[in-house]
Amino acid sequence: MNKLTVKDIDVKRKRVLVRVDFNVPIDEKTGAISDDNRIQAAVPTINYLVERGAKVILISHLGRPKGKVVESMRLTPIARRLAEILKKPVATAKDCIGTEVEKQVAALKDGEILMLENVRFHAEEEAGDKTFAQKLAKLGDLFVNDAFGTCHRAHASVSVIAEFLPAVAGFLVEKEIETLGGILENPAHPFTALLGGAKVSDKVALLDNVMGKIDCLLIGGGMAATFLKAKSVNIGASMVEADRIETAAKLMDKATKNKVRLLLPLDVVVADEISATAKSLTVAIDKIPANKKILDIGPRTVEAFGKEISRSKTVFWNGPMGVNEIPQFAGGTLALAKLLAASKVKSIIGGGSTAEVIGELGLSEKVTFVSTGGGASLEFLGGEPMPGIAALLDKNSKIKG
Ligand code: 3PG
Repeated sequence: MNKLTVKDIDVKRKRVLVRVDFNVPIDEKTGAISDDNRIQAAVPTINYLVERGAKVILISHLGRPKGKVVESMRLTPIARRLAEILKKPVATAKDCIGTEVEKQVAALKDGEILMLENVRFHAEEEAGDKTFAQKLAKLGDLFVNDAFGTCHRAHASVSVIAEFLPAVAGFLVEKEIETLGGILENPAHPFTALLGGAKVSDKVALLDNVMGKIDCLLIGGGMAATFLKAKSVNIGASMVEADRIETAAKLMDKATKNKVRLLLPLDVVVADEISATAKSLTVAIDKIPANKKILDIGPRTVEAFGKEISRSKTVFWNGPMGVNEIPQFAGGTLALAKLLAASKVKSIIGGGSTAEVIGELGLSEKVTFVSTGGGASLEFLGGEPMPGIAALLDKNSKIKG
């Protein structure tokens, strides 16, 4: 990686502002954290700084409170969970800027940790406001970005803050760049991309960018319907992105030109509606009834996709194969998750709901890498420059002071 990291800076006695992405799923009913992978993933950087006598000040967002204080999006439960993991106290602040917070920071001793309140309670965060970034920067001497999941956002605490403080990468960001960058630059072949999820539009940049690098492309999930429609398959009452049918056709042409083996579903699970009580049925792809929607891939598709996965050396997976929140439409996603975990391929899971599925099945240790970035990993593999990474100091930079 061509960026400086925490290992390149002297942090002793320094106030180190660390942007983390603790935007974790919270159970609406109980308020409990349902997947703490993003918290766990930031622990190496936090421990490294604490052990070297830094005063660690954590900045994060949670949810999309749109510039207002939303009680259910406070970071106190996250700080509590972090303290349990670290087995160390994690103090909390009532805000992320202002004189009260400045006093709390000034009182920090070396090796102590303070978590600021949800940075998105201020509208200036998402607006990338310079004055707000400067107020945050006032709390630290150095800035560490360990929030890979947020690196695609040009927000005040992600990229703008780097205009006011020396900015380096944390270990999580370094690992993400090296792993995802590695599959773009030098993947072990055959390289397969397994893509699902609702929308083609989310994946166009990625598909465009990887087409010359992959050997096989497996498409399931809601997005498959748009590809099938582009091939004039009768998809019944399935949802399609009408404005992306042409894009899907172009991507299939590009796959042919690049000699990429492209597999679409051979059979699907269909129903009248997306509901746990809907009567479902498995049909061949050319037998979809006019009034039914595609809600999962079928067993023949699982088998065909599974064969491709087993003969691959690298697999990147983003997006569920069906409506996996509803058990009767989760079969395809679960089967492929288990198959991937049991295989010997280098398996990279592209964050978001795919990472949640892998986590819920207890398979995180069985795959090679689970990215903490959902949208961020797609943008990274789409080859887009990411503001949070671009703002970090290059490897050959000198830090003043
Ligand atoms: C994510 O969950 O992908 C990141 O935390 C970014 O969140 P956002 O999509 O609300 O910016």
